[in-house]
Amino acid sequence: MPIRTTAAIAFEPGKPMVVEEVDLDPPGEGEVLVQTGAAGLCHTDLDVLDGSSPIPITFPVVLGHEGAGVVLEVGAGVRNLKPGDHVIAFGPECGLCGSCRHPTGNFCDSTFSGVVVDPTMTSGGRAIRAGYAIGTFAKHFVTDQIRLVGVRKDAPFDEISYLSCGATTGIGAAVVSANVHSGASVIIFGLGGIGLNIIQGARMAGATTIIGVDINPAKAAIARRLGATAFVNPLVAGDGLVGLLNEMTHGGADFTFEAAGRISTMQQALAAARIGWGVCTIVGVAPAGETIDVLPFDLIMGRKLQGTTLGGFRGSQLPELVDWLMEGRFDLKSLITDHLPLEKINEGYDKMRRGEGLRSVLTF
Ligand code: APR
Ligand code: ZN
Repeated sequence: MPIRTTAAIAFEPGKPMVVEEVDLDPPGEGEVLVQTGAAGLCHTDLDVLDGSSPIPITFPVVLGHEGAGVVLEVGAGVRNLKPGDHVIAFGPECGLCGSCRHPTGNFCDSTFSGVVVDPTMTSGGRAIRAGYAIGTFAKHFVTDQIRLVGVRKDAPFDEISYLSCGATTGIGAAVVSANVHSGASVIIFGLGGIGLNIIQGARMAGATTIIGVDINPAKAAIARRLGATAFVNPLVAGDGLVGLLNEMTHGGADFTFEAAGRISTMQQALAAARIGWGVCTIVGVAPAGETIDVLPFDLIMGRKLQGTTLGGFRGSQLPELVDWLMEGRFDLKSLITDHLPLEKINEGYDKMRRGEGLRSVLTF
């Protein structure tokens, strides 16, 4: 029997989502039905909605890959989850592929295999897909057990839904992918929902110089509250931006991060990394088809350029991250500036387009 629920459907790129009732296929083999507790509005979904994302997604679709909730029902062959468990949706971890068996791999071979999935819902006779094989912009969603992580029950859904992507990506970029060390100098370009969490990660790792860079001066206060030791506005610094950052870090930072999703800031982040050992980590997603120019000499001089997915974290490491959250080692409460019902999802994305607020979360 299909499950009757309510979902925000994106019928085509560039149009607002429509919230309506859908019939959701029940969990099949290895799948889990989750009652959504909270779902985060991530920038990645906005790029898909606007049709500018490199991620292959077929419309009509229920988007949303950040979400947490309660397991209602499990399909055959589901071993690690049971009804009543609290779960966070996350990048898959099949445990069997080359990436899952590699000591540091976190890009499971099933990452894209499940994304272009057969439709799993219908609305008024139309077939609808679950975006990213998850689809959390709905009161219920069904996904594969390898895309869910069971976590402790006392953690609030709104905060842990943010661990599905944005917060984990930012914190992990610093503590896992770049492995920032104590005493390090760090520069973060772009202080959105991801960049602000890179600041928190750098602070937790013991970095002593943490410079936030953003064209929006309103980000300075929150950046400092989360651990930034300085704030630089590129609109004020102008052409001298990289020179100023080099001066502030005595010749370049040990670690730089790009979280604005622009080619220009990626070039600046590479140039602001210290010759000899500076590591530049690309976290933001640039528009499809755009490329970074890199002088090989920049790399020969000992700089490193790398990227990260989900901050290098695997799903099985999330319970520890939830413990850190509950111990107050990092703060997600101050980053969640809006709680919205599903019906107001388009308002949430309009706010994101206008650059207002930090993170909006749907609560159910
Ligand atoms: N220099 C510095 N900061 C900039 C610049 C620039 N030239 N242009 C934009 N920014 C800042 C914005 O002012 C904003 O604070 O980058 C920040 C981006 O934040 P969000 O829009 O909240 O994006 P976020 O969710 O943090 O994601 C960052 O990663 O996943 C990708 O698509 C996502 O590209 C986006 C990036
Ligand atoms: Zn795998």
